[in-house]
Amino acid sequence: MEKIIVLNLKMNMDYNDMLKYIEDMKVYKKDFIVCPSNIYIPYFLENGYEVGVQNIFYHDSGSYTGEVSSRQVKSLGVKYTIAGHSERRRCFQETDEQINRKIKCALKNGLEVILCVGEKARGDYKEILKKQILEALDGVSKPIYIAYEPIWAIGSGNTPTKEELLEVINYIKELKPSSKILYGGSVNKENISSVNIKEVSGFLIGNASLSTSHVKQILDVVR
Ligand code: PGA
Repeated sequence: MEKIIVLNLKMNMDYNDMLKYIEDMKVYKKDFIVCPSNIYIPYFLENGYEVGVQNIFYHDSGSYTGEVSSRQVKSLGVKYTIAGHSERRRCFQETDEQINRKIKCALKNGLEVILCVGEKARGDYKEILKKQILEALDGVSKPIYIAYEPIWAIGSGNTPTKEELLEVINYIKELKPSSKILYGGSVNKENISSVNIKEVSGFLIGNASLSTSHVKQILDVVR
């Protein structure tokens, strides 16, 4: 199966940066899923990109000021949503129970879900991953992507060794055998080869996704 590359642009780029990005990456536009700020989604879609959202709400419509629903983004042509990113958990106090509701609503509306999980301190992953995965996927039977994103690796320049990564992937597979597992956390053009093991179904990339030349080099290794 071909690996997927998910680019999490987070809250970056102004309007002109975004237009330049769309132009620079047009040859590669089918090789990755881009998750821009919601305001830029229509521009990426109109230019033929595969698009995901960074977060989604758990109702289809109603009086929820500032929120965006799965139904709305699906009707635009968005295919994926990230759920439970560690920045959402940390900055917005998102709970596993809320993430579970978001995932169920997204799946009901036909979005593919990328659930992010990860432990704070290196080596101490079992209990936290078990809680995050079992609670977020309570009552969910459809297969989804699980992005293993250790918090100690995100934005830090550190990545797990091949052995550490394989151990965690095997553990996640025990918990959810049908899931496809992505890796995220400081993936860049220098370390992509070392985390690109066959058991990983793809990558979730933050900082490095802001540089189109970095993304192209990462794609060259993974594709
Ligand atoms: P990073 O971010 O690649 O900058 O570590 C990954 C993420 O937050 O999804």
